[in-house]
Amino acid sequence: MSSPFRIAPSILSADFARLGAEVSDVIAAGADWIHFDVMDNHYVPNLTFGPMVCEALRPHAKTAEGTPVPIDVHLMIEPVDALAAAFAQAGADYISFHPDASPHVHRSIQAIKAAGCKAGLVFNPGAGLEPLDWAIDEIDLILIMSVNPGFGGQSFIDSALRKIELARKRIEETGRDIRLEVDGGIKVDNIARVASAGADTFVAGSAIFNAKDYASVISAMRAQLQAPLTA
Ligand code: DX5
Ligand code: ZN
Repeated sequence: MSSPFRIAPSILSADFARLGAEVSDVIAAGADWIHFDVMDNHYVPNLTFGPMVCEALRPHAKTAEGTPVPIDVHLMIEPVDALAAAFAQAGADYISFHPDASPHVHRSIQAIKAAGCKAGLVFNPGAGLEPLDWAIDEIDLILIMSVNPGFGGQSFIDSALRKIELARKRIEETGRDIRLEVDGGIKVDNIARVASAGADTFVAGSAIFNAKDYASVISAMRAQLQAPLTA
């Protein structure tokens, strides 16, 4: 894949009565990853789906040519470890968790990697990046929340841009290949700004699944990512 950017539609805003078809359709429309939001009605005030749904969707997460499309599991659950292992078993590729939801952050990262997945840390809008001081060398992805976790369709919180810039600096210091993902309120009209702050991977739920034509939204996002910033 030539572009450094990845677009990761969140199936939180898909039609839950036809999830397999939604995954296939959004991949046909150009999705690079499938973002899978796991909520437990404890860490966040909402409840979604678990490893069995991930396992059921795994065969649908592939291109028309049969190339697997990564499943990007975003755990909004507490505790983390047992379900992280179950998601690895269910075919997840990336598994990310909120460090404040695990008493032993390093152990949770190790468990995810030992299960054969890539590991990510997620930072809420009100959270600092301090856990990176001790864990950045172990992870494959940093996910910056640009809304408070729990619901789709919220507005982008601008202070996330500063946090993305800080995270990008931290990644450059390591010299390692770490994805910098942003989640919440991403639309065609703000994705370029978010990219210029340093993000390379973009979760978008309502912007894509609430549209009639998924491909036109995804290609409009890609066009924004290629166009130079004008303001
Ligand atoms: C929110 C989830 C997001 C959500 C984003 O807790 O983590 O992935 O689906 O939805 P939009 O793109 O509608 O803000
Ligand atoms: Zn998410």
